[in-house]
Amino acid sequence: MSSLRVFRAFSTRANTAKFAANATYPKAVLNTSSTSSAFYLRSLAIPNLKRAYSTEQTEQKAGGGGGGGSGILWLGALGLIGAGAGYYFYSTNNGGTLGKTQVPEKPKTIDYQKVYNQIADILEDNDWDDGSHGPVFVRLAWHAAGTYDKESKTGGSNGATMRFSPESDHGANAGLNYARDKLESIKQQNPEITYSDLWSLAGVAAIQEMGGPTIPWIPGRKDADAATACTPDGRLPDASKGPAHIRDIFYRMGFDDREIVALVGAHALGRCHPDRSGFQGPWTTSPTMFTNGFFTELLGKKWVDKKWKGPKQYVDKETGELMMLPADMALIQDKNFRPWVEKYAKDEELFFNDFAAAFHKLLELGVPRTGEEKVYRFKRTGEA
Ligand code: HEM
Repeated sequence: MSSLRVFRAFSTRANTAKFAANATYPKAVLNTSSTSSAFYLRSLAIPNLKRAYSTEQTEQKAGGGGGGGSGILWLGALGLIGAGAGYYFYSTNNGGTLGKTQVPEKPKTIDYQKVYNQIADILEDNDWDDGSHGPVFVRLAWHAAGTYDKESKTGGSNGATMRFSPESDHGANAGLNYARDKLESIKQQNPEITYSDLWSLAGVAAIQEMGGPTIPWIPGRKDADAATACTPDGRLPDASKGPAHIRDIFYRMGFDDREIVALVGAHALGRCHPDRSGFQGPWTTSPTMFTNGFFTELLGKKWVDKKWKGPKQYVDKETGELMMLPADMALIQDKNFRPWVEKYAKDEELFFNDFAAAFHKLLELGVPRTGEEKVYRFKRTGEA
């Protein structure tokens, strides 16, 4: 174990700028931005957000004043203000049924880069697994979103329904209470952010801070009020199964073979826990670094059955310290998955680009969008 710990999160931070500057994204991702290039979004996202309310006011002012101080307009405006005040007085003093609910609330502005930084600050923990909460945050974001069904349009990243039983008790979600509890401190500091935005943002922050690609991220998820929004058990993949099952699960979400392989590349991170999934061990020797290591290990090592009383899984013949799930092995056994494993093992940049696009798409599942939303690209904590 201690040999793995050497690769803890802080050693990865130096590595994080690697793909920051030159990562490119398939058009589909960037097209979700209404106006701008990725760089523009990164540099302007926060000021734009902060300005959202004041800009509105400025524009209103410009409209009124732009008429050159027209007396008619001013009289009209005064009249409207008078009428509004009268209505407000009436409504707040007339039995109180409408009362204060008629006063529009000022929209809350959230500094998402600040929230990102707060999440980054709680990732490292020497008492947790390999020294970082990053992997379990990524798994939380993925399991919150991976319940999506494109036919019924149920499930997905909107709602944060894993807060409720029965979804919190679904076998696939075992252990994710640790991630939810850990993120509670961030929610307390930022009560206005929804859990569904927070969990998806935690996935993004974890990947970026562990050296992975920049993941374009859009806020605006809403939390469900009740357990009635929970999806039925069985929507997440079963690790003991093969290619047909994996396709059933991921095609249901709307992914293709290339995206499936890219997404499972997240198994470069973290480990299996006997008390959660029943499986045991990490996939790579650097489980807190986001790399293409899952693919290079999958192809490069000889995998043999693990001799134990637990569920069927594989260990590397040489050391017995690394492992693969039957569902991971399916990616090299299947003739349409395998070429992507080979490509990603050879070309980390291709993997990073494909992963960023697929993970972004995953986090968008089930979230209603107009297409006009701002897309955020967060700076890593080490970046100027
Ligand atoms: C065929 C699809 C998949 C299967 C069968 C699968 C299965 C599993 C299992 C059994 C674990 C161990 C959980 C534990 O014992 O703590 C795990 C962990 C993990 N999975 Fe997957 N997974 C799949 C896809 C994905 C995807 C798409 C992502 C993210 C994009 C992902 C990210 C992770 C991460 C980061 C961990 C480590 C969690 C930790 O260290 O606490 N997995 N997965």
